[in-house]
Amino acid sequence: MGQYPHHLHMDHFEYRSGLLHCEGLDLESIASRCGTPSYIYSSRTALDHLKRIREAFVEIDPLICFSIKSCSNLAICRLLATAGSGMDVVSGGELFRALAAGCEAAKIVYAGVGKTEPEIEQALRAGIALLNIESEEEFVAVASVAKRLGIGCACALRVNPDVDPHTHRYTTTGKRESKFGVDIERAKSFFARFGKDPLCRLEGLHLHIGSPVGTTEPYAIGVRKALELCDSLAAEGHLIKWLDIGGGFAADYETGNSPCAADYAAVIVPLLRERVRQGLRVVLEPGRSIIANAGVLLTRVLYRKQSGDKCFAICDAGMNTLLRPSHYEAFHFAWPVRPAGGMVPPMRSKTINLPNLERVDVVGPLCETGDFLALDRRLPPMKQGDLLAIFAAGAYGMSMASRYNSVPLPAEVLVHENELRIIRTRETNEDLVRHESLEGLLV
Ligand SMILES: Cc1ncc(COP(=O)(O)O)c(C=O)c1O
Repeated sequence: MGQYPHHLHMDHFEYRSGLLHCEGLDLESIASRCGTPSYIYSSRTALDHLKRIREAFVEIDPLICFSIKSCSNLAICRLLATAGSGMDVVSGGELFRALAAGCEAAKIVYAGVGKTEPEIEQALRAGIALLNIESEEEFVAVASVAKRLGIGCACALRVNPDVDPHTHRYTTTGKRESKFGVDIERAKSFFARFGKDPLCRLEGLHLHIGSPVGTTEPYAIGVRKALELCDSLAAEGHLIKWLDIGGGFAADYETGNSPCAADYAAVIVPLLRERVRQGLRVVLEPGRSIIANAGVLLTRVLYRKQSGDKCFAICDAGMNTLLRPSHYEAFHFAWPVRPAGGMVPPMRSKTINLPNLERVDVVGPLCETGDFLALDRRLPPMKQGDLLAIFAAGAYGMSMASRYNSVPLPAEVLVHENELRIIRTRETNEDLVRHESLEGLLV
């Protein structure tokens, strides 16, 4: 068990009579109805995590904006929007999705280092809550679009607090050398230069230190630095009304291994309680912590083979379906849907101590050595045709999937108790070439 045993029930995927279930449905029957590979989401799990965050932070009543880059399916966005969530978007495409899913514009915040002019226009016309600005040149671009349209917007400056979140270097976003935001020291001159723009009202600060942030301390450091900055800006006449502290709360990739919402709240809320009483509005942008544990990637073993002393399970899902193992060297717990000999895992962990496990590399079908889902794992013996579940795959799974090697994208399905809905149909070969032209279009 990990160091956070207080939240065993991170999801509604569990083995019953030796067979993996998602809420009220077993994954064998889901596979027979929807095929493989497929992403299976538990709606109860997603809603539970949103609720846990809301309850943990209730004292400072933040605007919770689900970070839809983590899982951008319309039905998932709608599920969360209907439960009251706002959305954090980072492109015109995500803004389109958030609105199409029924999220109120007044609950949408928009970040991103490279917003284009059409995207800025789209955001201003939509009337979103907060536009997070990441550079001086971007502010100038936003101000000029706002002037042309005669539409104003509340803006937050994304600052780089230079905090190490101790996560993978690709997802470390708040250190000085990262491309995001402006140095905290430059914030004052930024406000001095742009703080009085009548349309782009610079009235917030934004930070996002990384993802996943597996300890709570980096938030305490980041928030303290942001509050110091708020005070020195206030002394120069710039009132900060919004503090957006970004996302990055961890998910439970191994049982009990990550802090939960209440742990993060325990360090963040005391720092902000008084400020909120004085009128500060706090924004949170959780993605992974809401949806990672709510999704499983369901794949089938196509072939098994032995090569030297190595055993491979070659699956119909690979790095094209779930990029995280190969891109971030991320760990995803994998286990058969109906494990041989009824070997149900006692927990999800890198090391499982059960007799008769086999050492295996779980790999995909692509022509890349980096195409794997799980390396050197001890799993119950599997045979051709067996179903395998890759757990905690709901975040940065489907949203990072690609059509590499011209393999159509998988299906996504949403389970609610005993009900199953296909929320994205499996792509076909025709879908692969839909935007291509044999002759080319002469322009
Ligand atoms: C600005 C911003 N906010 C929120 C998030 C969501 O992070 P997470 O899914 O870890 O909560 C990200 C992720 O990279 C981000 O860049």
